[in-house]
Amino acid sequence: MTKVRKRAPDDTTKARKESRTVCETQHETAQIMMPQHENVLGHVFGGVVLAMMDTTAAVSAIRHARMACVTVSVDRVDFREPIYVGELLIMKSSVNFVGRTSMEIGVRVEAENLLTGVRRHTNSCYLTFVAIDSDGKPVSVPALEPETPNEVRRFNAARERRERGLQERMSESLRAAAKPNG
Ligand SMILES: CC(C)(COP(=O)(O)OP(=O)(O)OC[C@H]1O[C@@H](n2cnc3c(N)ncnc32)[C@H](O)[C@@H]1OP(=O)(O)O)[C@@H](O)C(=O)NCCC(=O)NCCS
Repeated sequence: MTKVRKRAPDDTTKARKESRTVCETQHETAQIMMPQHENVLGHVFGGVVLAMMDTTAAVSAIRHARMACVTVSVDRVDFREPIYVGELLIMKSSVNFVGRTSMEIGVRVEAENLLTGVRRHTNSCYLTFVAIDSDGKPVSVPALEPETPNEVRRFNAARERRERGLQERMSESLRAAAKPNG
């Protein structure tokens, strides 16, 4: 008779750490911008940058949670400077703040002219991911231990953004509930 190995439902939870440092969540990726990334003006499409931001941030979120994670929100993104075909697009991400099941990830975007070596900081963005189980339900994630003054500053700023976001969402649902037939 074949033995079926039963896995305790909390195996994964036990294997997960109680807390993680920001360092453990850091990720860096880079890609040369090619003609297929170009818009009619010769700049890189904003959507290419957004997709790469999302993927970069996902690595940090999953490194923190060691669980599947989904994007639940992307903060305002301003494209202040164009990125050109031929430049190296570099993205650096790490977890800024952790709630119960959600994580705010900061992504810094730089463009390097590979011929001159000059790098420009083109923009930054905050994305919120939620760790989910196999049924798609949010699950709790380890705490975050900010260590350096910069990490503490980012942690506090992210906590304030989260509070503002929660208040905005609460006001929106109250407004929606107050609407007739809403
Ligand atoms: C992410 C998802 C599982 C959350 O489910 P939910 O029922 O809203 O769960 P909750 O209300 O319990 O919220 C879970 C967490 O997400 C946070 N959250 C929910 N909506 C949010 C938003 N708009 N912005 C930031 N955080 C948000 C909550 O604050 C909570 O955080 P906490 O546990 O750290 O306190 C669900 O919304 C979902 O599946 N979304 C689709 C995700 C997806 O497919 N993304 C890919 C792009 S299509």
